[in-house]
Amino acid sequence: MEKKSGIKIVGTGSFLPEKVLTNHDIEKIVDTSDEWIVTRSGISERRIIDDSMATSDMASIAAKRALDNAGLKPEDLDFIIVATVTADHYFPSTACLVQKNIGAVNAAACDVSAACSGFVYSLVTGIAFLNSKVGDRIMVIGAEALSRITDWEDRSTCVLFGDGAGALIIERCEKGSEVLYFSLGADGTGSDLLEIPAGGSRKPASMQTVENREHYIKMKGNELFKWAVKKMRDLVADAIKQSGLTKDSLTYVIPHQVNIRIIDAALKRLKVPIEKVVLNLDKYGNTSAASIPIALDELNREGKLKKGDNIIFVAFGSGLTWASCVMKW
Ligand code: UT7
Repeated sequence: MEKKSGIKIVGTGSFLPEKVLTNHDIEKIVDTSDEWIVTRSGISERRIIDDSMATSDMASIAAKRALDNAGLKPEDLDFIIVATVTADHYFPSTACLVQKNIGAVNAAACDVSAACSGFVYSLVTGIAFLNSKVGDRIMVIGAEALSRITDWEDRSTCVLFGDGAGALIIERCEKGSEVLYFSLGADGTGSDLLEIPAGGSRKPASMQTVENREHYIKMKGNELFKWAVKKMRDLVADAIKQSGLTKDSLTYVIPHQVNIRIIDAALKRLKVPIEKVVLNLDKYGNTSAASIPIALDELNREGKLKKGDNIIFVAFGSGLTWASCVMKW
């Protein structure tokens, strides 16, 4: 899929819970070590929401911050898309709760389920809506309360995930900023590599499923690893080629913050200089759909983005799904 169009990002926002859970804290919960977690994943700490909050609360704060950043009012939004695997409820959608919380009375709202690729899937969905002139201004949010679906007795997964939310607003523009390229894909044959086995219509929640801890994330991390390196490498190589960028004209790659070894192995081979790769997984862990918009907002607020910068967003995850998008800031 490919589409060149006049679309720009006019505001970004994010929210990270105050509570920091360090690797040393996790050493007290499961049989692990700071050394193992840092060497195998690059993660030192992550943020965890408190009991009073859910995904929509984090998403709403990130959304309000994006509106402030853009100088827009909630009524200016035509559509709110929330990417999440940790919706507050089966239904209504988390996007509807955000719409209510921020008072975006003119906005349609729905969630997108594509796991860690969810934010880029949602961004591309928003771009497609703008291109078809269905709306003028769209809020795209990635928000996750992964601590709520993490098995805190499973050391192979509980060390990896964190909570947070990031948002951006896109609108159509005459010229200048552009979407240079996007690509989406899926391979459902790998659906058992990363899943929550119970609690859906296949295996409704029961005393038994809860006892078996089947309502938590199960991941075949090792099997995913090799696939993930190749997928990230192929996605970035394709995005550079199809958007006509060179290694010099590429300003930033914002990858899904999954594991430093995956990102390093994928991008080193492509000779993308490490200073062009935006990383924050050491502080926040893997926040699934929230990881890319949080990283973008940090970059924006640190004043590191200038007009004409070329940014590649790239993600993959459960489904299996994958997605890339190249935008000019
Ligand atoms: O976000 C979307 C998609 N997610 C991914 O793509 C994740 C991809 N996978 C990964 O990032 C890595 O596979 C992990 C970080 C999850 C694991 O790293 P690994 O190098 O693949 O470790 P492993 O699973 O092969 O485990 C190696 C050893 C095992 O022990 P033995 O069998 O060699 O004795 C595990 O039991 O490490 C052990 N282990 C741990 N040890 C200490 C597993 N988890 C831990 C832990 N602390 N937390």
